[in-house]
Amino acid sequence: MLSKASLIFIAFASVTVKCIKHENLIIAVGDELEFLTDGSTYRTLTLDSYNASKLSALAYDATTRRLFFSDLRHRHGHIFSVSLDEEFRRPVEDIVERNNNETVESLAYDPVTKTLLWTDGLNRSIRRYQIDYEHVHIDEKEGIEIVHFLENDAKPQTLVSDPCTRMLYWTNIHNYRPSIERSLINGSQREILIYSDLLLPNAFDVDVVEQMIYWAEDLKDGHFRIQRSSVDGTGTQVFYHGIGNFIVSLTVGDHYVYWSDYSHKKLWSLRKDGSSKRPIILRTFRNPAMGVAVFRHQPLNCSLITSNVHHQELTMESTESLIVTLMILTSLTIVAAVAILIFRYGRLIGCAQPFLSNKTEGTFAFQNFQNPVPNNTYKMCERVI
Ligand SMILES: *[C@@H]1O[C@H](CO)[C@@H](O)[C@H](O)[C@H]1NC(C)=O
Ligand SMILES: *[C@@H]1O[C@H](CO)[C@@H](O)[C@H](O)[C@H]1NC(C)=O
Ligand SMILES: *[C@@H]1O[C@H](CO)[C@@H](O)[C@H](O)[C@H]1NC(C)=O
Ligand SMILES: *[C@@H]1O[C@H](CO)[C@@H](O)[C@H](O)[C@H]1NC(C)=O
Ligand SMILES: *[C@@H]1O[C@H](CO)[C@@H](O)[C@H](O)[C@H]1NC(C)=O
Repeated sequence: MLSKASLIFIAFASVTVKCIKHENLIIAVGDELEFLTDGSTYRTLTLDSYNASKLSALAYDATTRRLFFSDLRHRHGHIFSVSLDEEFRRPVEDIVERNNNETVESLAYDPVTKTLLWTDGLNRSIRRYQIDYEHVHIDEKEGIEIVHFLENDAKPQTLVSDPCTRMLYWTNIHNYRPSIERSLINGSQREILIYSDLLLPNAFDVDVVEQMIYWAEDLKDGHFRIQRSSVDGTGTQVFYHGIGNFIVSLTVGDHYVYWSDYSHKKLWSLRKDGSSKRPIILRTFRNPAMGVAVFRHQPLNCSLITSNVHHQELTMESTESLIVTLMILTSLTIVAAVAILIFRYGRLIGCAQPFLSNKTEGTFAFQNFQNPVPNNTYKMCERVI
């Protein structure tokens, strides 16, 4: 307990001393893609010969520096991609053609299998397509595979993949039976993570580095809350509770959680470590920002992530056991000192019973510390007499 508190304090102190920068973000807002640097400088990404209408879901692949986005009202396509490598010429490729039986709710990209995944709201499914950059356009349904068919009344919403643990997470915003679920990216081992105490998880993201999930809910009385838990659905805690935001998109960076809200059309950020009480407004838009993604310069280093989490646990444990050892040593020293004192004192005045029982209660602060001290002293006293 003590050690955890002091560790948290040290972590807190070192974090507040360091100046924590905002991550660079890519934002889908109205018919534009915006790039936000350090939480303050923004510019619009110009797209070559592309007539955008209502941009929504985003997925960025740092290994190929390619952005995937969905356009809700585009005449010909559902999903497009653009390379962010080149600064001036950014041709947009149509990846999945529009068909009337499908709505693309969310996108995820798995760099390991080079697969684009999305949730289809109308057909209640999670689909995937392996991107072959030679012929990236999918005109027919050829090559599109189903990862999951969800229940008849399911409403799949956000989809997030974790390239390191090979997991796929999604939310179901069914009115009466909402859930947060996961499976392996290949579809195996499907499980429900959270279903009780869940309202509609309108926005959701996975913190891959710290292996946590975050979700936002509208509490219907003007309030909203963002909760988080470990990736297996345990240890739920309220991350933020506030008024007046209907959150449409949420993303977790290394130090901050970002969200955009429908009501005020703002982009907010709040530190993950709890060192600031209130979120700050980074941007106010003309339209609500439907998609927000962290722009990483490097792909996630998975060995760093697993060793990082492991390392934290290890230092926690070893510090804790070190402190316990120190406490035991200290208590033994005190016990020895007191025993010697009693030994001498007892020889001087004898070993009266009332004196001992009174004294043991007051003096032996460690009597609950698995230490049969009073008995020993008593025996020692008897032997002395
Ligand atoms: C661009 O898209 C909008 C909406 O889809 C459409 O009304 C408009 O005619 C398009 N413009 C061009 C130049 O294609
Ligand atoms: C849409 O669904 C209907 C009925 O399920 C089917 O007849 C039609 O072929 C589908 N269209 C496409 C483009 O898949
Ligand atoms: C859903 O998708 C499957 C597989 O692509 C297709 O056979 C079926 O017709 C679709 N259903 C609807 C209602 O579009
Ligand atoms: C998915 O991957 C796991 C682990 O590699 C494997 O055991 C399982 O058979 C795979 N499932 C499918 C459907 O490929
Ligand atoms: C990933 O992190 C590990 C451990 O710190 C390091 O040895 C390795 O070089 C890193 N890999 C890359 C690609 O940065």
